[in-house]
Amino acid sequence: MYKLRVILISMLMSFVGAASANHKSEKSIQERTAPSGKVYRAGDDVPVAKPMVVEASGPMSGKDVYDQKCAMCHGAGIAGAPKAGDAAVWADRVAKGEAALFSSAINGVPDTGMMAKGGCAGCSDEEITEAVKHMLSML
Ligand code: HEC
Repeated sequence: MYKLRVILISMLMSFVGAASANHKSEKSIQERTAPSGKVYRAGDDVPVAKPMVVEASGPMSGKDVYDQKCAMCHGAGIAGAPKAGDAAVWADRVAKGEAALFSSAINGVPDTGMMAKGGCAGCSDEEITEAVKHMLSML
């Protein structure tokens, strides 16, 4: 019985010893005290972020142009802008024909809040034309 206890205790001691020895090992210390970031040196295999591929988005739809560039005035009909969707307000303008409206949208209406291209200098003539078509489709 006594022998068994000695064996058990010595087994326990060696286990604890092994555990703490392992904990203090060079490798363990290095792992636990390593800096959180990694410093790359010349020649290291450095991971490189792939460049972002930006696809040309193409022309905006008439609705997008209207929503983003025209609705601020034409949505509520502020500052003398004919309100989109209000057929009575648009009647005289529609009577001029689509081509005239495309032209005044692209070139602006002098001395009014309607600037050339509704102020969207970056919009193409086609995008403005599509935006006018979209406005007319709301009538
Ligand atoms: C800053 C306000 C404003 C913005 C933004 C604006 N408009 Fe206008 N728009 C006006 C006003 C004001 C008029 C009325 C001009 C007038 O007295 O005939 C007008 C008139 C028009 C007309 C009628 C022109 C005619 O010959 O009767 C069209 C078409 C038009 N706008 C299209 C657009 C389009 C398309 C956009 C967006 C790309 C746009 N507008 C953005 C203020 C604006």
